[in-house]
Amino acid sequence: MDYRGKWALVTGASAGIGQEFVRQLAESGANVVMVARREDRLKELSALLQSHGTRTVPLAADLSEGDAPEKIVAFLQGQGIDIDILVNNAGFGLPGKYVSTRWEEQEKYLQLMVSTYAELSHRLLTGMQERGYGRVINVASVAGLVPPAAGHTLYGPSKSFLVSFSQALAAEYDGTDINVSALCPGFTYTEFHDVNDTREQLNQMPDFMMMQVGETVTGALKAVEKAHTVYVPGLQYKFLVWLTGILPRAWAERIVKGSGKNYRDAH
Ligand SMILES: NC(=O)c1ccc[n+]([C@@H]2O[C@H](COP(=O)([O-])OP(=O)(O)OC[C@H]3O[C@@H](n4cnc5c(N)ncnc54)[C@H](OP(=O)(O)O)[C@@H]3O)[C@@H](O)[C@H]2O)c1
Repeated sequence: MDYRGKWALVTGASAGIGQEFVRQLAESGANVVMVARREDRLKELSALLQSHGTRTVPLAADLSEGDAPEKIVAFLQGQGIDIDILVNNAGFGLPGKYVSTRWEEQEKYLQLMVSTYAELSHRLLTGMQERGYGRVINVASVAGLVPPAAGHTLYGPSKSFLVSFSQALAAEYDGTDINVSALCPGFTYTEFHDVNDTREQLNQMPDFMMMQVGETVTGALKAVEKAHTVYVPGLQYKFLVWLTGILPRAWAERIVKGSGKNYRDAH
């Protein structure tokens, strides 16, 4: 990939998959606007990537706030930055049953996991369309492709939305130089499982089910270049998605319901 002269915006850039996107995009020559709440982490990353000779711009924002996307776009306009590559990635899981978390918190969760993704795509695709070039990666999950398990209730549905949303956008931009992909990782080593309070369950996972951020992000960047709309990293997860797709729905639901107990907090 040669992204010299391009500008990327990565949300959730302070850790895990987002941080790796920033690293690989900068290595490929892109300038990167990095968004997350922990500004200290963004500044550290920016300092680490200085040797690439590209620009990295830390931008602190809480993407569960309704006005965050508008403010981000106003900031970009103020800086004269046109975004060519958007990586919508920020996210986490709310442990427990649906009603064990207050509605106000669930609403903010939907804002972060659904509305912010949709609004940033809308606002930034407008410019991409005018310039005739764009790449959008929405970080969904294998959870968006298989039936949901109990607990973390809105996680799977929000990821299913992102898969379907990416497919709809990809269809709209078919035949242009604007490519849209949903990245659907399985379990990947990041801080995600500490934030979600599922580290203990995850430690019981067989090693072959765990993916590394490097291979996940490299694969996603290749996939968006090839205009692959839905990208699932790892043969083990491709197989899982294929299997749950060909099984009768009730069987697939039963399998996920059973295995979900091992890695989700549903209390
Ligand atoms: N790791 C996995 O097993 C896995 C599997 C499938 C899909 N995914 C998806 O991959 C994406 C990245 O997760 P990860 O594994 O890299 O987790 P992570 O290491 O915990 O990173 C999550 C990122 O999201 C940011 N974030 C969370 N809430 C935010 C908010 N309100 N406003 C702004 N930024 C926020 C965090 O930054 P701050 O805390 O600094 O704000 C952090 O940079 C998520 O969408 C997740 O659903 C992960």
